Amino acid sequence: HKDLLDTDQLSLADVKRIFDTAVSFQEINERPVKKVPTLRGKSVILFFAEASTRTKTSFDVAGKRLSADTFSLASSGSSLSKGESLKDTALTLQAMAPDAIVLRHRYSGSSRFLAERLECSVINAGDGWHAHPTQALLDAFTLTQEWGSVAGKAVCILGDIAHSRVARSNVDLLTRLGATVRLCAPKTLLPMGVSTWPVEIHHNVTEAVRDANAVMCLRLQLERMQAGLLPDLREYARTFGLSPRHLERAAPNVRVLHPGPMNRGVEIDSTLADSMNSLVLDQVASGVAVRMALLFLYLTRKEAAQ
Ligand code: CP
Repeated sequence: HKDLLDTDQLSLADVKRIFDTAVSFQEINERPVKKVPTLRGKSVILFFAEASTRTKTSFDVAGKRLSADTFSLASSGSSLSKGESLKDTALTLQAMAPDAIVLRHRYSGSSRFLAERLECSVINAGDGWHAHPTQALLDAFTLTQEWGSVAGKAVCILGDIAHSRVARSNVDLLTRLGATVRLCAPKTLLPMGVSTWPVEIHHNVTEAVRDANAVMCLRLQLERMQAGLLPDLREYARTFGLSPRHLERAAPNVRVLHPGPMNRGVEIDSTLADSMNSLVLDQVASGVAVRMALLFLYLTRKEAAQ
């Protein structure tokens, strides 16, 4: 493919290739000289029209470790803030002949919109509520490294599913890799049509995490909720926040994940975030290796096809 828009366009063979490549790049990350010339001469524009710490930085680190030139553009410092359209901004960036644009934007479908209009690769770094494929890949990669395979494991995704692109991409990828996915949220924070998804649905945290091998906590995406319909944070934390008490009924050695940013004391108890069960920082480290793999595979696809 020219572009990475969501996980559903990747076959299981594609996912295996990405994971195998990420493993080979993990070795570079662990060496004292963390740079190889693999992508010298390639350029990547990191176009983040919505806030990001992990995704943007890890794409930047990934590109630089492979010797690609990376350039950052944010919404507030760009001419988007002067009314320029996404299309005109993208065509302007394309005229600078990058090999890839990594896009984060608040509109669902924004990555596809650009991918259909640009010659360079477009990598979706999160589009609205729709998809966050590189997050799902790094989550599945992290769990695969822990367990050898996610097949047959039970993964509970807990929190604001309705507004979560992370949940949507993870449900697709984890279920196709053979995991059982349980979603746990208040009814108001489950998406329309969720009953057709290949998941179990729960509204009680204790039941949802029973015998689970991993629990992925998601934050409340208050920025995507209407004013006046915001949940009471204290009540939400009491009812849907993950606490050590819940994990007593989970599988032994249950793993706790969070894509970040975390709101400690709301969707996750602070001690759990720092506990031996937590894979939160492993996810960040995996993110660099997975994004190195993706940049390598997408930026060298023409050479590989020859
Ligand atoms: N997980 C994630 O997308 O984090 P950022 O918003 O910090 O990139």
